[in-house]
Amino acid sequence: RNHPAEPEALAGTLEALSSEAAVCTRCPLHEKATQTVFGEGPDDAEVMFVGEQPGDQEDIAGRPFVGPAGRLLDQVIAEAGIDRSRLYVTNAVKHFKYEPRGKRRIHQKPNMGEVKHCRWWLDLEIKLVKPKLIVAMGATALAALTDAKQRLQDIRGQAMAIEGGRRLFVTVHPSYLLRIPDERLKAEELARFRDDMLKIQRLI
Ligand code: URA
Repeated sequence: RNHPAEPEALAGTLEALSSEAAVCTRCPLHEKATQTVFGEGPDDAEVMFVGEQPGDQEDIAGRPFVGPAGRLLDQVIAEAGIDRSRLYVTNAVKHFKYEPRGKRRIHQKPNMGEVKHCRWWLDLEIKLVKPKLIVAMGATALAALTDAKQRLQDIRGQAMAIEGGRRLFVTVHPSYLLRIPDERLKAEELARFRDDMLKIQRLI
């Protein structure tokens, strides 16, 4: 079997890492996806936001969080006074996983094996960017960033110390908010998400 190079052997810049990721075949997800969607933002960002995986629009654009979830995220962080251009925004999994249904491509949740394979890239992004604060949005990002089997709702909304002298802040994924059918629950959950973003703004 052909083993990919060890992380240390890779060139030590985000740009080089992104080029490596562009041809990644570590798991089968690259076969159906349009392209790798790598993280985006300053290479010395103090804050890194981590989502699940690119969606339909991200897959086509080649950029993270540019579709509906990204627009909601942009809106809420802007209201909280956070400047997206200062964040490094990435995903736990770098390829869009979907099932074709007619002309549509239906998002499928990445499995733990896919998350583990792709952690290779996330680990290197963290190593290079060295963020002081990492924001995990949703259970997949949480699973990719911690080995502990902690439930999102138990640790949500507070900064926790993690390895490397960093802090981890856990919140829900914006796509979750978009999918809540009940308007009242949706408004409540949106308010909690806004609250989380305000807390993050105060931590920065
Ligand atoms: N959802 C994610 O988790 N990431 C994106 O980039 C877009 C939607």
